Amino acid sequence: MDHLALELKNVSKRFGEHPAVQGVDLQLTPGEVLTLVGPSGCGKTTVLRLIAGFERPDSGEILLGGRSVANRTKFVPPEHRGVGMVFQDYALFPHLTVGDNVAFGLPRAQRDKRAEKVEFMLRLVGLDGRQDAYPQELSGGQRQRVALARALLPQPVLILLDEPLSSLDADLRLKMREELRVLLKGAKLSAVFVTHDQEEALYLGDRLAVMNQGRVEQVGTPEEIFSAPASDFVAEFMGKGDFLPGTSTPAGVQTEIGLIGPAVNAQPGAAVDLVLRADDVQFEADLAGDSIILARHYRGTTNLYRLRLPSGRLLHATASHTVRYRPGTRVRVWAEPGHALPWFARD
Ligand SMILES: Nc1ncnc2c1ncn2[C@@H]1O[C@H](COP(=O)(O)OP(=O)(O)O)[C@@H](O)[C@H]1O
Ligand SMILES: [Mg+2]
Repeated sequence: MDHLALELKNVSKRFGEHPAVQGVDLQLTPGEVLTLVGPSGCGKTTVLRLIAGFERPDSGEILLGGRSVANRTKFVPPEHRGVGMVFQDYALFPHLTVGDNVAFGLPRAQRDKRAEKVEFMLRLVGLDGRQDAYPQELSGGQRQRVALARALLPQPVLILLDEPLSSLDADLRLKMREELRVLLKGAKLSAVFVTHDQEEALYLGDRLAVMNQGRVEQVGTPEEIFSAPASDFVAEFMGKGDFLPGTSTPAGVQTEIGLIGPAVNAQPGAAVDLVLRADDVQFEADLAGDSIILARHYRGTTNLYRLRLPSGRLLHATASHTVRYRPGTRVRVWAEPGHALPWFARD
């Protein structure tokens, strides 16, 4: 039987009187990327530190590859867990070359394979030939990839990533999250990725665990979290969105309301679901329009409309409160979000 890569059973941890993590259950299958998402202070880092062995749970059990590493009587220290960790402030040693930084965690016994292993890792993260550079000669994104190579070199059974992209600027962050997903999936790594950014969580995770005040409120696929939030908190925090099916093209996603850019990182022709929020969707009254307004809800400075598309699918759209459209009005609907949208492969 295949073991789970990771399992947390009813794990709790308090600091003094403060419960940081309360009764957390999590399961990760081998090769799966789980994102742990929630607001600042909800206990994400503490969960990672418990998994890595930098904290000891007050109660509950943690298993890695089916082996208990923390329970009432047992505690395996971090260096014997085979877990790799990448932090937000990926502290490279400034006086060491890229190669020496990457090789830093290599056990003494494997020193003879050093050059070969470093080369392999640098190729994996797209930094071939840079082993002699110093960290300050690299961009932020490149430095983050060195940190990743360093964490991956000892071939961890599990990799933990604590907001590794949050110190990068917006453009680079978007690019790095795509690269990271390709890398994690390509290397079939089991990973727990922590972020407070909903879009990043949706993009990177095979499944998401949404945390609030030390508890996991819901674990599920991005679609489950979006379409069936288990609590108000989950619905609110993850943002409400509608799914719109379409086909990936080099210019964007072709949908029943037209082409929606920018392009997504999927094969041209691939079937995808875009997640549209109400403020991504626009419409105008048009007698020849093939969509129809079903309802209007007053929302202060905006009105929220429920629209029915020709396929029967529903979309929500916000519009200024200065114009009011009546239910039954025929409309033309389109979307020009001006930013990348969350999306999922449809199979
Ligand atoms: N070493 C510590 N000592 C005391 N309190 C801590 C410690 N580490 C974390 N906490 C508290 O536990 C809670 C969860 O923190 P953390 O796991 O860092 O949250 P997150 O990573 O989601 O922002 C916070 O209220 C934080 O202040
Ligand atoms: Mg944190």
